[in-house]
Amino acid sequence: MTTASPAQPEPPSLSPVQQTVHQPVLEQEVLALLAPQPGGRYIDGTAGGGGHSWALLAAGGQVLSLDADPHAVARVRQRLAPFAERSLVLQGNFRTLTAAAQQAGFDPVDGILLDLGLSSDQLELEARGFALMADGPLDMRFDPAQELSAADLINTLPEGELADLIYTYGEERLSRRIARAIVQARPLHSTGQLARVIERAVGRRGRIHPATRTFQALRIAVNDELGALHAVLPQAMALLRPGGRLAVISFHSLEDRIVKQYMQREAQDCLCPPELLHCQCGHRATLRVLTRKPVGPSAEEIAANPRSRSAKLRAAERL
Ligand SMILES: C[S@@+](CC[C@H](N)C(=O)[O-])C[C@H]1O[C@@H](n2cnc3c(N)ncnc32)[C@H](O)[C@@H]1O
Repeated sequence: MTTASPAQPEPPSLSPVQQTVHQPVLEQEVLALLAPQPGGRYIDGTAGGGGHSWALLAAGGQVLSLDADPHAVARVRQRLAPFAERSLVLQGNFRTLTAAAQQAGFDPVDGILLDLGLSSDQLELEARGFALMADGPLDMRFDPAQELSAADLINTLPEGELADLIYTYGEERLSRRIARAIVQARPLHSTGQLARVIERAVGRRGRIHPATRTFQALRIAVNDELGALHAVLPQAMALLRPGGRLAVISFHSLEDRIVKQYMQREAQDCLCPPELLHCQCGHRATLRVLTRKPVGPSAEEIAANPRSRSAKLRAAERL
């Protein structure tokens, strides 16, 4: 469907912004759990490089692809052009999924995918400021129209709040020492500067760069990633028709815990404390968990795409 015949002219070459380097993770596992059907309606809430959207379209679905990042949206629109009559690609934050889906006429839907975090396209573009090995600006916004950037947090937060942020979102034991070093060195302007300040403060042990957890913490805070995840899960379940499925891929324990706890809670009929003999909460299960344990990548996938190594996929079916 996408390959041009030899008689046709070559398509125009794509700029770096338009080409994706992102490899979708757990693609076959996502397809097995969402089980897309021809004519079914699906939402990909994190379009990224468009790989999962492509797979859902190739299975015959109609797909609404959302991404907060306008560069990703432009790339995915171009990539999914062969499916134009069944594909709609919009910029938007999945925090307001219901509004986006209803505006696009995707309510109810048969399946929803959230593949959390950032894409390789964002990571590898120095100017986005996600990568600690490059020397980009302290940015880290998925949506460049958003006001708050990593520079604001790094250069203005009081030391105690910065330490708490790094501890909470980075699960970094050395957060106090790192925050003190940052405050002493500011103003900081680039990711390279920040990485060096952290390395000087805590030293280097092992293969993982000592700034890795701090970078994760800043990215999560800048984009309020955990807040968006909390907000989207009930919206996603409400958009599914009975029997419809939600699949979520997370990349660190903070995200995975939110997804796991939400699914466990919503799979139960009553949430009263066990000492109560009769239910007083009236809570009714809205979903069935399809993955008792999270699904991870195979050894082959990790070898082919090392960034998949921390991926955890959980899925649930609307009752
Ligand atoms: C891991 S990538 C998705 C890759 C995609 N599944 C693929 O196959 O190419 C995550 C994407 O989600 C987007 N994203 C993260 N949080 C978002 C949010 N709250 N709303 C919309 N998009 C978001 C990021 O901008 C990024 O492009």
